[in-house]
Amino acid sequence: MSLLIKGARLLGGKAADVYVEDGLIREIGSLSTTAEETVDADGLVLLPGLVDLHTHLREPGREDAETVLSGSRAAAAGGYTSVLAMANTSPVTDTAEAAERVLDLGRSAGLVDVQPVGAVTRGLVGEELAELGLMARSRARVRVFSDDGRCVADARVMRRALEYVKAFGGVISQHSQDPALAPHAACCHEGRLSGELGLPGWPSVAEEVIVARDVMLARHTGSRVHVAHVSTAGSVELVRWAKAQAERDGMWAVTAEVTPHHLLLTTDLLTGYDPTFKVNPPLRPAEDVEALRAGLADGTIDAVATDHAPHARHDKEHAFVDAAFGMLGLETALSVVATVMVEGGLLDWAGVARVMSVNPAGIAGLDGHGRALVAGEPANLTLVDPAASYVVDRAASLSLSRNNPWHGRTVTGQVVGTWLRGTRTFSA
Ligand code: DOR
Repeated sequence: MSLLIKGARLLGGKAADVYVEDGLIREIGSLSTTAEETVDADGLVLLPGLVDLHTHLREPGREDAETVLSGSRAAAAGGYTSVLAMANTSPVTDTAEAAERVLDLGRSAGLVDVQPVGAVTRGLVGEELAELGLMARSRARVRVFSDDGRCVADARVMRRALEYVKAFGGVISQHSQDPALAPHAACCHEGRLSGELGLPGWPSVAEEVIVARDVMLARHTGSRVHVAHVSTAGSVELVRWAKAQAERDGMWAVTAEVTPHHLLLTTDLLTGYDPTFKVNPPLRPAEDVEALRAGLADGTIDAVATDHAPHARHDKEHAFVDAAFGMLGLETALSVVATVMVEGGLLDWAGVARVMSVNPAGIAGLDGHGRALVAGEPANLTLVDPAASYVVDRAASLSLSRNNPWHGRTVTGQVVGTWLRGTRTFSA
């Protein structure tokens, strides 16, 4: 199978032709070759296939909300060639067998590389470590561990997990939420609005105390912590400080991700009590959004991760306090980042490639993703029309769920094609 992408803008800004054969990029330049599939990419931007560090695929257990196949379709439509599937399924991905099962479901869907995330603790209960070593040694080669949806709140358990994964270059991705300061019922950023709306407050400090603790534990253990879905200005400050320390010491590492929704949506959307906007951590005020954008632009935040969290109607359509936390993100992430960061003058397209492909692939230790667009590399590719604007329509989603906070919004920058090892997985 051969493919010729003609005249795409590459990351250096220059237009070139890209020839792909048998899954690899073979040649880049001004080419007169012919191929079985030719794509006219005049005016389009070619990126390395996107990598999502944080996807909820819901299979096994909640196939009414999403399956590995439906989530893979949504991911390919969003320009992704690899996603990390979070462990809070039913059963939880806390054994080697469970991780291998998710890997195999991903392979049989065949649209993106589905890399399982392993639970940090058995059953996500926060007490006993899960089978971290067995998951790492399994066919699934698990390297990222997370109890996401729940915080590893016990400092001793977090310390042991960091020590354990250090041996095989693993990383703990932490859902930073001190349950004493923000219990499960907390669902609105704590401030004036939470009081006015009568919703239980989720204060910024409940995230920040865990981020502060975990960066110190990472330093103490010489291991790697990844801060999932950073949502406050204070957390950005802490990560900035920790990175400076870690760079000086060289023996430990802190990385962080931000979601598209925390880069654009704010707390005031909750005034209508629409559960579509209920997410954990919650939407924050404009000052936090500004700090998150600045942190992403200056490299304090390494990656954009979707936290794609599909929910069935019967879990979401409730009074705000009773509805499930989470929103869709895979299909719209690139457009939101393009609208906020590229149109906003904060990142160029090489920057988008860094935060949505290169850095997430590096954090997760994925071979073959997030690579430079040069001959010899796997042809995991995303083609984007940077000028196309469109209105998001939740009915058009490939996800099985409809909890789409972007419905009705106009965004700029559209994925027009995705290829996994040279095979087309999405066509606009
Ligand atoms: O909003 C969220 N939904 N945040 C999480 O951390 C978990 C996720 C889910 O699994 O639905």
